[in-house]
Amino acid sequence: MKHLRTTISILILAFVIGCTPQEKPEKPLSKVVNESLAFAEKQSLLMAQSLKDQPTRLPKTIDQQGELETCGSEWWVSGFFPGVLWYLYENSNDKQLKDWATNYTLRVEDQQYTTDNHDVGFMIFCSFGNAYRLTNNEAYKKVIETASESLITRFNPMVGCIRSWDEAPWSKQWEFPVIIDNMMNLEMLLWAGKTFDNPEFIKVAETHANTTMKHHFRDDFSSYHVISYDTLTGEPEAKHTAQGYSHESAWARGQAWGLYGYVMMYREWGNQAYLKQAVNIADFILNHPNLPEDKIPYWDFNAPDIPEALRDASAGAIICSALIELSGYVSGKKSADYLAVAEKQLRTLSSREYLADLGKSGNFILKHSVGHMPNGTEIDVPLTYADYYYVEALMRMKKLQ
Ligand code: GLY
Repeated sequence: MKHLRTTISILILAFVIGCTPQEKPEKPLSKVVNESLAFAEKQSLLMAQSLKDQPTRLPKTIDQQGELETCGSEWWVSGFFPGVLWYLYENSNDKQLKDWATNYTLRVEDQQYTTDNHDVGFMIFCSFGNAYRLTNNEAYKKVIETASESLITRFNPMVGCIRSWDEAPWSKQWEFPVIIDNMMNLEMLLWAGKTFDNPEFIKVAETHANTTMKHHFRDDFSSYHVISYDTLTGEPEAKHTAQGYSHESAWARGQAWGLYGYVMMYREWGNQAYLKQAVNIADFILNHPNLPEDKIPYWDFNAPDIPEALRDASAGAIICSALIELSGYVSGKKSADYLAVAEKQLRTLSSREYLADLGKSGNFILKHSVGHMPNGTEIDVPLTYADYYYVEALMRMKKLQ
């Protein structure tokens, strides 16, 4: 009798387990990475071919009809698509990709002389920086040196920063605006300083990073978007936003630029203060109660309509790439936590929710970014820089594995 009862219990248990829906095992991360890179390659070749007859244009976003919107080399995003092509060439060694990468890189060449904004670092280092890294072509190196000379013309020693914007309609109220995004331009300066043995490039980069560390961050290590400086005293005269929800909010891409910027400063210059800053910024982002489960941030951490607020895939991709690198500079639980969040972000961005369909979304790789919410432009669209940092993150994860 006892035997029979045990047998019946086992049968019931087996039946219950059999009826419980079984979770599908998660795809191995290496498969996600390889499949996403393969898709990015196909999509980017379509993009490259689509602009073959417009030799001065570069991909920017899509318009309200869903059609590709392009820009000339002077727009700040011009270097990202050449950079995507270089990363994909690095992955596959495909000659076609190299030819297109070269073609699109040369479209940006004239920007080495740009002195009227700070974006020369983005434009030249994502394009020519990757081109030189993968080809050792001396001509590319020279372009980076010239661009670095152009960038430091914007440095003001009283302020201790490179000026971001000149007088523009949106920046008239500021005497000397410096935006957190500007940290990204320092990578080119540090690289050029070391490569060309130019201490001035290094001094400017270091001073800018130190000044930004002093004035751009709140006590919780979130950052303002714009700090405007008084050029007579060198002190901040305004702490504002241009692209965030409010002056005191944490605009998601701004937090991403700051994180990436200080991780990069630590890699290039090895100062522990930069590593500490990067860890503090990462912890602000990762512990934020408004960071969703899937780890792709809302466009602003303080957007008033959370959880209905739009996500920003570009911020997610930049944070992801930075966290993968940062996980290699810390140890133990911290390292594992950073890598786990980066893995979650890569899986989310590589899902059907964020990845475009082949030949759709203007041939961009990712959907769902936010460019400039207060301006009402580039809202819930693909953005070329989201693609760049996503592909960079895929490559970084692939190398780690
Ligand atoms: N650097 C401009 C932006 O992040 O939108």
